[in-house]
Amino acid sequence: MAFDKSYKDVPGTIVFDAEMARKGYYLNQLANSLMKPENRARYLADPAAYVDEWPLTPAQRKAVLDLDLNACLAEGGQIYFIAKIGAAHGLIVEEMASMMTGLTPAEYHDMMVSGGRRPEGVRLKDQPGWTRPVPEPPVERLRPDAPARYSAALYSSHVPAMGVAIDKGTTDEPYWRPVFEGYEWTRRWAKENPPDVIILVYNDHAHAFDASLVPTFALGTGPQYPVADEGYGPRPVPGIKGYPELAGHLAQSVIQDGFDLTLVNEMVVDHGLTVPLSLVFGQVDEWPCRVIPLAVNVVQYPIPSGRRCYDLGRALRRALDQWDGEPLNVQIWGTGGMSHQVQGPRAGLINPTWDNSFLDHLIADPVGLATWPHLEYVDEAGSEGVELVDWLIARGAMDDQFGGAAPTVAHRFYHVPASNSAVGHLVLTNPPR
Ligand code: DHB
Ligand code: FE
Repeated sequence: MAFDKSYKDVPGTIVFDAEMARKGYYLNQLANSLMKPENRARYLADPAAYVDEWPLTPAQRKAVLDLDLNACLAEGGQIYFIAKIGAAHGLIVEEMASMMTGLTPAEYHDMMVSGGRRPEGVRLKDQPGWTRPVPEPPVERLRPDAPARYSAALYSSHVPAMGVAIDKGTTDEPYWRPVFEGYEWTRRWAKENPPDVIILVYNDHAHAFDASLVPTFALGTGPQYPVADEGYGPRPVPGIKGYPELAGHLAQSVIQDGFDLTLVNEMVVDHGLTVPLSLVFGQVDEWPCRVIPLAVNVVQYPIPSGRRCYDLGRALRRALDQWDGEPLNVQIWGTGGMSHQVQGPRAGLINPTWDNSFLDHLIADPVGLATWPHLEYVDEAGSEGVELVDWLIARGAMDDQFGGAAPTVAHRFYHVPASNSAVGHLVLTNPPR
């Protein structure tokens, strides 16, 4: 089930996709560094020295130094970035375009004045043997032999103080012991059932994304992610190794499925992602698997609904089932919650009845749960309890949502308090193959 990448066949045209973005990452970042006047001055004074500050391939280095824009594009450059190299040399966009066509600036200008390049002969449909691709309808059934096997969903709170207790070695103190006992089963299970990759759904707490940028759903398509400094210095835990090829595949599929994700090649990851990893894998020098971060906006309203999160989970499962790469044991984790409010006069709100009802519905009635409005989360489980929408993504992807058998409730845990939160933790496994 290959994706439709027929955009690669449009004559004289390079479409910048995830593959090209990976290839051209530093080339494009170099080009954009020229938006600063001091960098332009340094580049123009000694182009080779400037270019050598960036980890380019020999072909990319040559393309920039030759001011060969077509070569820049072929080596992963994207024209909006690469245009800044031309701009540094004082070229206007019409001149840059002419350089890529083999026409002189005057010839190109004349062509544009006489109506522009005619489309006949330079379109896909003018190529011999070309037929229009027929879009495939969304898949609603499982692919039983899919190389990427979604084996289990793990749901957990991600309270930062739990991370501090692990980092400081205080998990045996009377306050913390009952919290961490709830994860002992999971730690043994994770050793026996190691995933190759975790799609880790969490919410960023204004660390990767500040007030200048609020992506609704942000998928990490980069190779690695450093640990955020949340104001106390970064947690003493390893950085995250990503999986750009799988993440790029997921992006391609999920976006074609109607979810306009934000793609993030570089960001820090905060406690929402690192604390659950510590809870399950303990103190390690390196995390035992790759992690694809999927950050959900719960900071600035409007935030995505439970329904939308559930549907994104379904789209993710369709994407996983279409992966034709190496065999993978995939887990999806949903983190955040349970009830907590860490702001204002109502801070400290805990609602065990509502939390347990959420767990019951997550297990047995995810479609019904997906209709619960935000107001209900905020009102019943506190303003930060709304993080629980993250969990619906992992649930919407499970086998039973595609006609398979119901998941097994392998582990269920609930405890109050950890810091300001009720801790909830579930492991649901899909039927074994
Ligand atoms: C707490 C819980 C969270 O999920 C969070 O992001 C920050 C603080 C808490 O309970 O203290
Ligand atoms: Fe949180």
